[in-house]
Amino acid sequence: MIAHVDGHDPQAILDVATGTAGVALVLTRHTTAQITGIDITEAMLRRGHERVAASGAAGRVRLVVGQAERLPFPDNSFDALTFTYLLRYVADPAATLRELARVLKPGAAIASLEFSVPRTRFWRFWWWLYTRGILPVAGYVTGGREWSRVGRFLGPNISAHYRRYSVGWTVRAWEDAGLVNVGSRSMSLGGGLVMWAQKSS
Ligand SMILES: C[S@@+](CC[C@H](N)C(=O)[O-])C[C@H]1O[C@@H](n2cnc3c(N)ncnc32)[C@H](O)[C@@H]1O
Repeated sequence: MIAHVDGHDPQAILDVATGTAGVALVLTRHTTAQITGIDITEAMLRRGHERVAASGAAGRVRLVVGQAERLPFPDNSFDALTFTYLLRYVADPAATLRELARVLKPGAAIASLEFSVPRTRFWRFWWWLYTRGILPVAGYVTGGREWSRVGRFLGPNISAHYRRYSVGWTVRAWEDAGLVNVGSRSMSLGGGLVMWAQKSS
């Protein structure tokens, strides 16, 4: 995903749903840009602040609380934008994509990473077994009841998202948001989906 935004020497990058700033920190190593991370959850950002400080990247990364659906930035603010594991959490993915595109400069790059459901029946079977059986148990073993709940939530949440918003629908939603050259690639045997595009000039 990073490879789709680190070209053309971006000076200002927005990472939406930045969480604990993992992607923002990777971006500091692959670019010379100033990175803004935005997330709706203050607790995630608190942990993000700690990680940024520990990495010595406080001068490069600014973290702000806010919603992807209502970004607190003017139109055409950023040279590139990343978002990971966001669209399953918003009520209106198409409107959210339009909002992400709004803050990009014309020609700027955008890329995302999201879980996905494998397309082939063979890998879908194993994915289903993993997400419904192994993940909840592994969650319980590593993090107790709370992580078991996360493990039980994830598989059904991913399935429900793609029943409503297929990959084809998502590509069209990116295009309808004013993004061009939309590309997508399955990874991890179909369990992940990387997408990329540019804002139309
Ligand atoms: C699974 S975490 C991923 C965090 C980070 N992108 C990563 O890969 O480590 C999903 C994140 O999306 C954030 N989030 C959910 N809905 C959001 C929204 N409407 N606007 C901004 N952030 C949101 C959550 O607070 C959470 O930090």
